Amino acid sequence: MKLLVTGIAGFIGSHLAERLLARGDTVVGLDSFDPFYPRAAKEKNLEGIRAHESARVIEGDILDEALVDEIFREGGFDAVVHLAGLAGVRPSLGAPARYQRVNVEGTTRLAEAALAHGVRRFVFASSSSVYGASARAPFAESERADEPLSPYAASKRSAELVLRSLVHVRGLGVTVLRYFTVYGPRQRPEMAIHAFCRAIDQSRPIPIHGSGSASRDYTYVGDAVSGTVSAIDRIDEGFRIYNLGGGSQPTTLFQLVTHLSRALGKPARIEHRPEVVGDVQHTVADISAAREALGYAPEVDIREGIARFVAWYREHGAAGE
Ligand SMILES: NC(=O)c1ccc[n+]([C@@H]2O[C@H](COP(=O)([O-])OP(=O)(O)OC[C@H]3O[C@@H](n4cnc5c(N)ncnc54)[C@H](O)[C@@H]3O)[C@@H](O)[C@H]2O)c1
Repeated sequence: MKLLVTGIAGFIGSHLAERLLARGDTVVGLDSFDPFYPRAAKEKNLEGIRAHESARVIEGDILDEALVDEIFREGGFDAVVHLAGLAGVRPSLGAPARYQRVNVEGTTRLAEAALAHGVRRFVFASSSSVYGASARAPFAESERADEPLSPYAASKRSAELVLRSLVHVRGLGVTVLRYFTVYGPRQRPEMAIHAFCRAIDQSRPIPIHGSGSASRDYTYVGDAVSGTVSAIDRIDEGFRIYNLGGGSQPTTLFQLVTHLSRALGKPARIEHRPEVVGDVQHTVADISAAREALGYAPEVDIREGIARFVAWYREHGAAGE
């Protein structure tokens, strides 16, 4: 297959591109090297990809209409896998318009460009945060998801809905993947596991917002990539949404700190901070739809995944600081 992967220099995008290249696909990647975290970390993510003969990495913005048009003109893509975007709940709280522009308008324009060039298959990276305050656990794709708690969640849900409309009016085939807190080697430096790991390693206190009982359905990046590849292979006409979660019990912040402290062999010190508006208290995925349709079967549990993350962290240091 020949695929356009946006966000290729990022955490999930770089792992996905490596997997696709390893099985013989051709990958054209687009990434703007957004300064949300350092370029050096993204360049490192790309080391193996840039060296591969079936990969091409283009630096540019999904909002750059002329560039996107040129990429599609040269493309001949079987599908677009759209992971580029502004990630993270907390940074979105003060920048709703920016999140809307990149995540909603950017996604809309990319889908329009795909359609204009006859590419009719579009996989979109959405988020468990879309379930917001409205869902009953475990979260199922059939939930209405109309009470987002942050501009980030609202932007992802809005983009899903725009894509859904394009299925109806333009015949685009769309698969939405709702990732549940993905972690593992190369994880974004501001995400909890990476930030906590750095704090423990450097003997700094870990800021825990709220009681520490908040829990997440953590998903190992290798599993998230397997689900994504499976979705790429099966994408067809119509609109589908799949949760990609970790497949076992959610982990509380306290448990996370304990796992990290053990894996690092260093004590952890917790500093309690007030709760942050926008954070969801608990996430837990119902992954039965992905199991059935995609054969999705997550393999790496939180202990093993954290051990792998810490091994990577030890080798690569506190990238992003
Ligand atoms: N990591 C998670 O736990 C998680 C959970 C749910 C959803 N997601 C979604 O999955 C996708 C990938 O997440 P990630 O953790 O790998 O994030 P990431 O920040 O590491 O990767 C996103 C990439 O998109 C690029 N980008 C940002 N704006 C761009 C633009 N305008 N044009 C081109 N490229 C641009 C960035 O430079 C970055 O390399 C994102 O859309 C994110 O919202 C991630």
